[in-house]
Amino acid sequence: MKIIRTKNYQELSKKASELIVALLQKKPQATLGLATGSSPLGLYQNLINHYNNKDISFKNVVTYNLDEYCGLPRLHPQSYYSFMYQNLFSHIDIKDENVFLPNGEASDLEAECKNYNALLDKANIDIQILGIGSNGHIGFNEPGTPFSQETFIVELTSKTREDNKRFFSSLDEVPTKAITMGINNIMQAKMIILIASGKGKAEAIRKLINGPVSVDFPASILQKHPHTIVIIDEEASILL
Ligand code: F6R
Repeated sequence: MKIIRTKNYQELSKKASELIVALLQKKPQATLGLATGSSPLGLYQNLINHYNNKDISFKNVVTYNLDEYCGLPRLHPQSYYSFMYQNLFSHIDIKDENVFLPNGEASDLEAECKNYNALLDKANIDIQILGIGSNGHIGFNEPGTPFSQETFIVELTSKTREDNKRFFSSLDEVPTKAITMGINNIMQAKMIILIASGKGKAEAIRKLINGPVSVDFPASILQKHPHTIVIIDEEASILL
């Protein structure tokens, strides 16, 4: 695991975007695994800027998102589908048909997991972007999830729902389930970039880097991935 320490969130976002820009310049038809949440927002803004400067194009890029809430309409402002269009896809030249997210509205959610998993099996993701939950989740793989897990429906923990409440008007509105790539899917990516900023992530980063590899802290499996880069700011690294 390679650790890149940066001064602040701005520098962290710049470092992460430089890695993606380098990939897209070398391989314009690259496949990216994408995350939602606060952590990648600066990265996505930088990618939009690079696109506007004509440094990169997304016209041959294919993306797969980590996860999606169940039961929220796709166009609900807090769906991950909406998040990705608002914060990245609407601002670049990616083709809609090259954008993949699990369908959390599917009438048969189990079948949807199988479909998404089959897509991921063929995806060959070049770079997977990850954030990290304070309890060590990656995607929505909560503590206790087996490392062999593939795409599945997850019951969100109260901690994760609490963490995500800030995007909804009340805790009751936060969905209770999501479809997520499993840990095994995430580990198939050729390269993983995990980004974390702020002191709220410091304990998670300590466990990610120095803790034992254990299903109790799902992100710890990244220690076993051959090509993971962890990009953190000063506050997230205070416990290292
Ligand atoms: C998002 C995802 C989550 C987040 C994690 C951190 O698609 O799968 O694992 O990456 O909850 O969220 P933020 O970045 O909001 O702290």
